[in-house]
Amino acid sequence: MRHGPGVRRIVRIMTGMDRPRRLRRTPALRRLVAETTLEPRHLVLPMFVADGLDEAREIGSMPGVYQHSMDSLRKAAVEAVTAGVGGLMLFGVPRPEDKDPTGSLASDPQGILNRGLRALADEVGDATVVMADTCLDEFTDHGHCGVLAADGSVDNDATLERYIAMSLAQAEAGADLLGTSGMMDGQVGAIRAGLDAAGRVDTAILAYAAKYASAFYGPFREAVASSLQGDRRTYQQDPANRREAARELDLDLEEGADIVMVKPAMSYLDILREVADRSTVPVAAYQISGEYSMITAAAQNGWIDRRGAILESLMGIRRAGADIVLTYWATEAAHWLSS
Ligand code: PBG
Repeated sequence: MRHGPGVRRIVRIMTGMDRPRRLRRTPALRRLVAETTLEPRHLVLPMFVADGLDEAREIGSMPGVYQHSMDSLRKAAVEAVTAGVGGLMLFGVPRPEDKDPTGSLASDPQGILNRGLRALADEVGDATVVMADTCLDEFTDHGHCGVLAADGSVDNDATLERYIAMSLAQAEAGADLLGTSGMMDGQVGAIRAGLDAAGRVDTAILAYAAKYASAFYGPFREAVASSLQGDRRTYQQDPANRREAARELDLDLEEGADIVMVKPAMSYLDILREVADRSTVPVAAYQISGEYSMITAAAQNGWIDRRGAILESLMGIRRAGADIVLTYWATEAAHWLSS
């Protein structure tokens, strides 16, 4: 007698096959077979230091995240490093009146970001990786990531000169790793050459290989008091494109990137997986401000379990291929993971 497919399947189940639930039965079994790990060292904390603050100021659209004064920056850095995070990524917020068309303060040793980097290097530099945002948008009065040409467009090659000057100041201030977030063509190669020519062969580059023009950066614009009108679509990538990310990756690797990054994270997990599969260097992903704010707001409303959602989001980013995850929850999650 011949059996149909339904019966064959029942027989298989009855003879002991096809029972993946067996490995989910107890916490010990689940721990034994877990494929992905999430550890404090995988997490990097992005931080903001603002000029002219006496104490930390909470960012309205990112409850729990602060613009730091020099003192509170040091304290928060020590807390993060004590919790075991892998590194700190610093952004600077100058006074509005100090911004100008070329973002002069970005390359000034006395500019807020370079002062903040020196404070971090001094306070925790021996115990963690100090990273700097190497981009002009916080420092330009028009808010773009580069300098403008006469017609108002962002001038790629003139911007590279500014990035080189900025990266030398950041290396001098004690940054171990420079985060090239501006999406100018040739930025990694230009900065690498500039660093090498100045004898800074040991300063590493975290290349934002695939950075998309995203609506989820919204809260960050408040965090850094951005002056931007309009958008960044002439330099950041179109969310429609996947192949283009592979091209950007290849270029950054050729130009000497030491680590590559995908940003944002959660809406781009397919890109992250592809970059992780192709990359010959470690891969990072940035869980950005809007991702933070969405989970925070839903949790504040009692709509989702905060801790569960945070850890699941971070695990998802790791599972998609990130060796390193930049997240505003780095310190808190590191505490959870080590307790
Ligand atoms: C630009 C920069 C941005 C972020 C990091 N670097 C904003 C932008 O591209 O508009 C966003 C980070 C976040 O949203 O958390 N230098």
